[in-house]
Amino acid sequence: MGSIRFDKVDKIFGSSRDGVKALDNINLEIGEKEFVAIVGPSGCGKTTCLRMVAGFEAPSAGTVSVSGKTVTEPGPDRAVVFQQFALFPWKSVRENIDLGLRNKNLSKADRAQKIEAALKLMNLESHADAFPHQLSGGMQQRVAIARAYVLDPDVLLMDEPFGALDAQTRVVMQEELVRLARVNPRTVLFITHAVEEAVYLADRVAIMTRRPGRIKEVLDIKSVREAEGWDRFSKIEDVMDLESFVHLRTQIWKSLREEKGSQVV
Ligand SMILES: Nc1ncnc2c1ncn2[C@@H]1O[C@H](COP(=O)(O)OP(=O)(O)OP(=O)(O)O)[C@@H](O)[C@H]1O
Ligand SMILES: [Mg+2]
Repeated sequence: MGSIRFDKVDKIFGSSRDGVKALDNINLEIGEKEFVAIVGPSGCGKTTCLRMVAGFEAPSAGTVSVSGKTVTEPGPDRAVVFQQFALFPWKSVRENIDLGLRNKNLSKADRAQKIEAALKLMNLESHADAFPHQLSGGMQQRVAIARAYVLDPDVLLMDEPFGALDAQTRVVMQEELVRLARVNPRTVLFITHAVEEAVYLADRVAIMTRRPGRIKEVLDIKSVREAEGWDRFSKIEDVMDLESFVHLRTQIWKSLREEKGSQVV
């Protein structure tokens, strides 16, 4: 459960005659519990790809499927984490996490137990009764991730989830996400402008062209990570220093730079 497949996907916004072609023949398969990051110039259609998997947007041609079924609408098998935390300010951390569980038909005890587990997973136990405005940006984003995890989705869709965080908090969250991916692996589609973040987190990185977006190349990070033993290091800066890491990062930068006229960061 949780595989994702883009099959000959085009997306045109507006009419087919004078519309904007956002995506051109996207083909990509993401395996069960695989972590794939997409990088590409601004406006190349990354968010559009993610929204199609979420079921918020339909392809103009081709199909997007999840777990072998064509996506036609949003569903509980997919959870989305956006750049902006999208928490309800008048609800506490616990209540925010509880929201998604409301319509899940669980007993009160089951719900409480799932919420406690999510709080624990994201180290939020001591802030369960706080309100969003009492939390730092990093903690708010932890709540957003806890809220996605509590739904127990097969697929986690993350659109620049750390884009609004300061550099140090961002690093903490990246390390956190790696930890989470170990203890509770999911299929993840992760969009970012930060090349290093993509290399650090993902099993594979898909690079897109500028608009109309196509998949330009897909790099296998996992095999390098395993061969070079990146997991020996718990700190991102140590991994980022490794020659094998630098090599992949440079390769992606060069590929993005070829997309003339694009703004990468
Ligand atoms: N609802 C819409 N109506 C019309 N055009 C749209 C719509 N949504 C997106 N677009 C256009 O489609 C293209 C791709 O947009 P998208 O948001 O997917 O890009 P992106 O790669 O996520 O960009 P960024 O890196 O800036 O977030 C853009 O040119 C955008 O203006
Ligand atoms: Mg976007």
